Amino acid sequence: MSQRKPIKKAVFPVAGLGTRFLPATKAVPKELLPIVDRPLIQYAVDEAREAGIEQIIFVTGRGKTAIEDYFDLAFELEATMDQRGKDMGVLDPTRATPGDIMSVRQQVPLGLGHAIWCARSIVGDEPFAIFLPDELMIGAPGCMKQMVDAYEEVGGNLISVLEIPEEEVSSYGVIAPGKEVSDTLTEVTGLVEKPPVAQAPSNKIISGRYILQPEVMRVLEDQEKGAGGEIQLTDAMAKMIGTQPFHAVTFAGNRYDCGNKTGFVEATLALALEREDMGAEVRAIAERLLAQ
Ligand code: UTP
Repeated sequence: MSQRKPIKKAVFPVAGLGTRFLPATKAVPKELLPIVDRPLIQYAVDEAREAGIEQIIFVTGRGKTAIEDYFDLAFELEATMDQRGKDMGVLDPTRATPGDIMSVRQQVPLGLGHAIWCARSIVGDEPFAIFLPDELMIGAPGCMKQMVDAYEEVGGNLISVLEIPEEEVSSYGVIAPGKEVSDTLTEVTGLVEKPPVAQAPSNKIISGRYILQPEVMRVLEDQEKGAGGEIQLTDAMAKMIGTQPFHAVTFAGNRYDCGNKTGFVEATLALALEREDMGAEVRAIAERLLAQ
């Protein structure tokens, strides 16, 4: 039996401006744009719950209150649906134990590292997970469950990584890999945000899921700015390497970058094709369109 503190809290930074999806995101948060019939944020929250996470902490900003409303009880909607004999089960994924959904504000979007730091009082002195909901991770088990299983083994800090073509690494955070613990678990000796291709230490990129020790909050406290003039989470994590165990889990599954438009369309198509209730119809439509 492991003696490690279980991962019960997860931070979801959702305070970004979503400029790549304007004008859609002028009035609707990017996290509520639907992939088929579920908002992006729902997939990430489902993944968290599957991994045993109980407390969801949103780091929000102006114009994002609809995310909290989405996870609240919609009394009038439910009363009307009930009267009309509609299936209420469709709302089950939006339900939460009272008190288990929390939010804090990041008043100015100063970067991902700053967003995480805004959650420090709720995180307290516990290891915690981070989900970037733009990155849709589809796996069985889900990405965070794979990470929690690895955490049971090695503890410390963990990030999920993906292997991508070398020439694309300069858009991402990249790891310098150390000793391999297993086929899917590698020690991390360094992290670098958006390196030029020639200086990239590997083709393994950090992909939107983290398990971190609370000490990262003290590193973020310094508010040092990195790439793009933003307070970068990658820089803070890099400073922890050497002081605490740090590993990367290669995610077994599919990742869709829904922060950009083509990734969003790809995810929509991939998930629609897999659906029992519409897959065949969507395939026929796609084939017809491609034949034109
Ligand atoms: P992105 O870099 O995708 O930024 O942030 P964005 O603002 O959401 O989208 P674009 O680039 O303008 O289209 C990655 C994640 O970090 C959060 C975002 O909400 C997203 O989940 N984030 C980023 C914050 O919460 N605060 C920040 O200051 C920056």
